[in-house]
Amino acid sequence: MRRENVIGRANVEDTPELDAYYRELEARELGALWNVANEIEPWHPQPKSMPMIWKWREVEPLVRRAPQLVAADKAARRVVMLVNPGRKEWSAAVGLLYSGIQIMNPGEFTSAHRHQASALRFVMEGRGAYTVVDGERMTLDARDFVLTPNGTWHDHGVEAGGTQCVWQDGLDIPLANSLDANFYEVHPEVVQTPAPLSRANWAKPYSPVFLYKWDSCLAELRKEKSFEYRNPLTGGPVMPTMGARLERIEGATSAIRHTGSVVYQVAAGHGWSEIGERRFEWEEKDVFCVPAWTRYRHGAAGEAVLFSFNDFPAMKALALYREEYV
Ligand SMILES: [Fe+2]
Repeated sequence: MRRENVIGRANVEDTPELDAYYRELEARELGALWNVANEIEPWHPQPKSMPMIWKWREVEPLVRRAPQLVAADKAARRVVMLVNPGRKEWSAAVGLLYSGIQIMNPGEFTSAHRHQASALRFVMEGRGAYTVVDGERMTLDARDFVLTPNGTWHDHGVEAGGTQCVWQDGLDIPLANSLDANFYEVHPEVVQTPAPLSRANWAKPYSPVFLYKWDSCLAELRKEKSFEYRNPLTGGPVMPTMGARLERIEGATSAIRHTGSVVYQVAAGHGWSEIGERRFEWEEKDVFCVPAWTRYRHGAAGEAVLFSFNDFPAMKALALYREEYV
């Protein structure tokens, strides 16, 4: 029990009589709120996630070993996960967000499936990668951004004439699981037969655009400091639970904290971030994360571009989003 000597907060002294009472409650699957109230209703968010950086120079050799050790079809999805030490039990990179690095050799593919968790991908390198989302086949090049919204059938692979491809997968698996709302299905065919997807009368709660090519997004980013990947029909985020953006960092940004978590990948350049008590130096392809309600700012001596995805749309839909410059 964490006692607080503040009016309105739990501050109950232990006594032999109370100890006996607590044991009786416990025996009947009951408990005294005042013993946990100060913990379960903290003054402000207390994320278990830690600020983390996964340096590509350390991650890359381990990712490249996976294809030598595990067949793509046996693994179903051959991915090296980014695991936050504070959120291991949820397989989260940070907060309610999952992230992993997927690697695929030329000629390999994943079988078609769908799940209630939403997914996005940011391509790190390689030629010849493709993904098929609800039948629509798209070719993926380095730094392209692609969606597989919740409930869409998807499979992906690399053309036989391509090169080894690597991309970051971002999903809201911990969110879906913490809400006990996740489902998984395999497609009746091993892979989908590509077919055009009609956008007529689009009423789905996610963007009708699945693929955002790097060159056009970078051209938009040149006009502003940041570029939000948007659903063109609503102007809102690409999916109901997760948003994504590019930011151009030149000099230092203002320090901010907010509810919701962010996973960053360095798209270009190098720089630094101060996140809570930690300071990270980053370069291209490094991945780092910002836990909820943790003060942070970024900086770069030259120009750097950060890709990131977040759970802000989920937080906003639940009226739980809050931010402040600090
Ligand atoms: Fe998937």
